Amino acid sequence: MSVDEFKKMKQKNEKITMLTCYDYWTASILSETDIDCILVGDSLVMVMHGAETTIPATIELMASHTAAVAKGAPNKFIITDLPFCSYRKGVAIAMDAVEKIMRSGANAVKLEGVVGNEEIIEHIVASGIPVMGHIGLTPQSVNLFGGYKVQGKTKDNAQKLLKQAIMLEKAGCFAIVLECMPNLVAEEITDKLNIPTIGIGAGPHVSGQVLVLHDLLGMHNKKSTLKPKFVKTYMQGGLLIESSIKKYITDVKRQKFPSSKYCY
Ligand code: KIV
Repeated sequence: MSVDEFKKMKQKNEKITMLTCYDYWTASILSETDIDCILVGDSLVMVMHGAETTIPATIELMASHTAAVAKGAPNKFIITDLPFCSYRKGVAIAMDAVEKIMRSGANAVKLEGVVGNEEIIEHIVASGIPVMGHIGLTPQSVNLFGGYKVQGKTKDNAQKLLKQAIMLEKAGCFAIVLECMPNLVAEEITDKLNIPTIGIGAGPHVSGQVLVLHDLLGMHNKKSTLKPKFVKTYMQGGLLIESSIKKYITDVKRQKFPSSKYCY
């Protein structure tokens, strides 16, 4: 996959598939699939480190997880999130963050929002680094939104999103994530842009889809309650893991494991 191919896929109306991935062994499984690209999302700080929001993610953490993913899936196009505030303190500081992430094995970076980011996006792209945009429900702004809420529901807000998408295309983004917005808004944005849109909770009329892999696999414990409407769960991973561990414990306690088959 290359930046050009993203555009070509949109032109051919071929859907782009993207999934999050945070570690080596999952990446090595994804590397055996036809997934088009991998996102080392800052959601990793919630999924892998138990944070309540994506705000605690740091450049060091993003770079460390990117390096593991790049080792596991060297054949995939990897996009890594620039974490909270790392691109809001001027071009030089943003470029330090980008450099660390690219040196750890990413092929592109993603950043949230538009206003105040245009100059930084232009500079990153002019430095030879592809940038993916992200608008709609941008989780790093959860405190401003007052929660994880659908964006672009009023005509005014829908127009704002369209304007933002056009600004991102002009700044040089090769693709844009559209998160949590009505189908019609995502469709209009997708139609008005030349670059592809990748939706999450944005309906089917986009150029591709992204999900958090752990959501798709149902890798949650019984206590987890947060399940956005847009998530389709393809297996009950959490339950499968729990029952396998329970079987192992029973086997050890009853001295069924290790049987002769597992002994030297
Ligand atoms: O961090 C992340 O996982 C993301 C996706 C939800 C698009 O940004």
